[in-house]
Amino acid sequence: MNIEALYNISYGLYIVSSGNKETGNGYIANTVFQITSEPQKFAVSCNKNNFTSEFIKKYKAFSVSILSQNAKSETIGNFGFKSGKKINKLNGFDIKYGKTNVPAVLNDSIAYMEFKLTDEIDMGTHILFVGELIDAQMLTNSEEPLTYDYYRKAKKGVTPKNAPSYIKKEKKGKSEEKIYKCNVCGHIYDNNTEKIKFEDLPEDWTCPTCGVSKSEFSEI
Ligand SMILES: Cc1cc2nc3c(=O)[nH]c(=O)nc-3n(C[C@H](O)[C@H](O)[C@H](O)COP(=O)(O)O)c2cc1C
Repeated sequence: MNIEALYNISYGLYIVSSGNKETGNGYIANTVFQITSEPQKFAVSCNKNNFTSEFIKKYKAFSVSILSQNAKSETIGNFGFKSGKKINKLNGFDIKYGKTNVPAVLNDSIAYMEFKLTDEIDMGTHILFVGELIDAQMLTNSEEPLTYDYYRKAKKGVTPKNAPSYIKKEKKGKSEEKIYKCNVCGHIYDNNTEKIKFEDLPEDWTCPTCGVSKSEFSEI
């Protein structure tokens, strides 16, 4: 089996959020899809360890912000590689509380949708949350949605273990040049394949996936 084939499945990238005006949280998901048109129902796959799963269960509603191709790596780093168990992830972001009162992140997004939770399907490691569309709003018409393919190829983004699409890499043979790994998101900087060696990158260089500084990388 060539597991690389799975990289050819097309996905978008989204921030799925839940909560209310007092408290809330959100995570990055690539697994958002429409199931039916009448009524308009959508599903999101959420790891049971994601803090956001507790909010969706409690508040029985969630929002989906559709990320722009120009989304900042800091935004993806905040929602995709940090957990709301440790920090308030919504702090400092522009939030809209819509018809369901759940928070929807507006930063780096081209549109957002709100859903009332209708079903929860236990999938072992993940829960499939199904919601009926309550509202949808455009935020801009001038930017393209961020696809998973663009995130991986152009932004050189990686995917953490909690994502359903995570693929465990086999260890290859010994390499000639040094390889570095981001301590926050796991982004790999491989001197064997990059034009500029890690050591020669400017000090203000930041991780292309999660936006942290060069000092957050360790040699592996
Ligand atoms: C590109 C990308 C795609 C992801 N897709 C999913 C997903 O579809 N489902 C999921 O449960 N986690 C996914 N994740 C992982 C969560 O966003 C991540 O575990 C997050 O830190 C959980 O935050 P929370 O604990 O505050 O809810 C993805 C992360 C990235 C970077």
